[in-house]
Amino acid sequence: MLKIAAIGLGSRTTEYLTIMRLLRKKEVEITALCDIAPQALKDIGERFNVPESRRFPNAEALFAQGKIADGLIIGTQDATHVEIAKPAIELGYDILMEKPISGDYAQCAALAEQAKAKDVRIVVCHVLRYHSYYGKIKELIRSGEIGRLVTINHTENIGYFHFAHSYVRGDWKIEAESTPALLAKCCHDIDLIQWFFDEKPALSVSSIGSLEYFRRENAPAGATEFCLGGCAAKKSCPYDAEYHYITSPLYKSTFVKFKKRRLTGKAKANKADVYEVLRDGPFGRCVFLNDNDVCDNQTVSIDFGDGQTALHTMTAFSQKCCRKSHFMGTKGELLCNHNDLVLNVFGKGRRSLGLKLALPGHGNGDVGLVLRFLNVLSGKAEDTRDVTFIEQTLPSHAIIAAAEISRKRNGERIHMDDFYASGY
Ligand SMILES: NC(=O)c1ccc[n+]([C@@H]2O[C@H](COP(=O)([O-])OP(=O)(O)OC[C@H]3O[C@@H](n4cnc5c(N)ncnc54)[C@H](O)[C@@H]3O)[C@@H](O)[C@H]2O)c1
Repeated sequence: MLKIAAIGLGSRTTEYLTIMRLLRKKEVEITALCDIAPQALKDIGERFNVPESRRFPNAEALFAQGKIADGLIIGTQDATHVEIAKPAIELGYDILMEKPISGDYAQCAALAEQAKAKDVRIVVCHVLRYHSYYGKIKELIRSGEIGRLVTINHTENIGYFHFAHSYVRGDWKIEAESTPALLAKCCHDIDLIQWFFDEKPALSVSSIGSLEYFRRENAPAGATEFCLGGCAAKKSCPYDAEYHYITSPLYKSTFVKFKKRRLTGKAKANKADVYEVLRDGPFGRCVFLNDNDVCDNQTVSIDFGDGQTALHTMTAFSQKCCRKSHFMGTKGELLCNHNDLVLNVFGKGRRSLGLKLALPGHGNGDVGLVLRFLNVLSGKAEDTRDVTFIEQTLPSHAIIAAAEISRKRNGERIHMDDFYASGY
């Protein structure tokens, strides 16, 4: 039986524990849980039948028990991953760590070194690598069907609704308190790009981007600090909090249902609870009169050498949350538009592969990640070349760190050799 402990019992960890219980019930025992929020500890403890004696109010209390599981999930918010991981590594825990590792590349590199020295494996939750849609793309590129891959043009359409929720009102709105939006949202995308180029190190990176729209000067006439505070533009504003969280048809969708707990802190919140927090809480704030500072649009151009390049775009300005990409090879191309995957081999015509990227929700990527992590723990990971171990993840974190330096220098091209030599 594999023993699993978890720190940070929010939406991600709950998803992973649920997958373990549904698909590996006979092989996995959830032995210890930890969260600083007493309600989350109680709810998740009860849901997964973990006795009170194995529920811990902070990481120190859990670590004081020594090593009491084979694997540890770290599912807390971005800024805490490294500090929690350090003592866990010392105790010898193999770790499933939420992305990003850290917004500070030096910390990422030091953590990888520490894990190597202690012979501990850290798998970073780049769930999209485990999604069958991206798995198929990787397989097609590897097979040489489109010849030699020359360029990737990839766009992360965050969705206006999702951007407002997470990056204007939510946990990732202030860079100093979390991470740049490029790291929080697009470390998956840059990881994928790196992976499609066979984890080849990038030579140089440049980036431009800004917080273009969600700013004070763009507030409509008569806007108030809270949408429910008598805003004159309420009816016409697509970002009205009451519309987003209560009256929109999306309210019934999984996305909003799922966010109700995050909004109210209650496991079973009703409409009145949501109204209460929207009146003067962060999710009721006007998206223009707020204290957010992360970019709402950014592009990154990456030179992998030997003529291989990638262009990544992150944007808040889309109706849907969806990723689209175009892979251009010497003998063909792949067009990935979220609802389809089309292969054009030059001279041979167009073929739809009938695959959908069923996002949001990561589709089957979450399941693939969890099963792979369990296989790593039990020694069953047959082919580990595509597992997102921390070593595989460092280059994409470095590209993003370099992109942020470039953005702050108006797009100056940053040579990765200089980036590494400068101590980041
Ligand atoms: N892999 C993905 O695709 C993906 C998707 C979304 C979020 N994430 C990442 O997952 C992480 C968690 O996100 P979430 O949406 O589940 O967050 P969440 O806010 O739902 O849950 C975080 C939990 O951690 C607890 N916590 C915070 N600090 C703690 C500490 N020091 N010790 C113990 N518990 C602590 C909180 O009380 C909360 O219950 C973040 O780093 C986020 O960026 C990854």
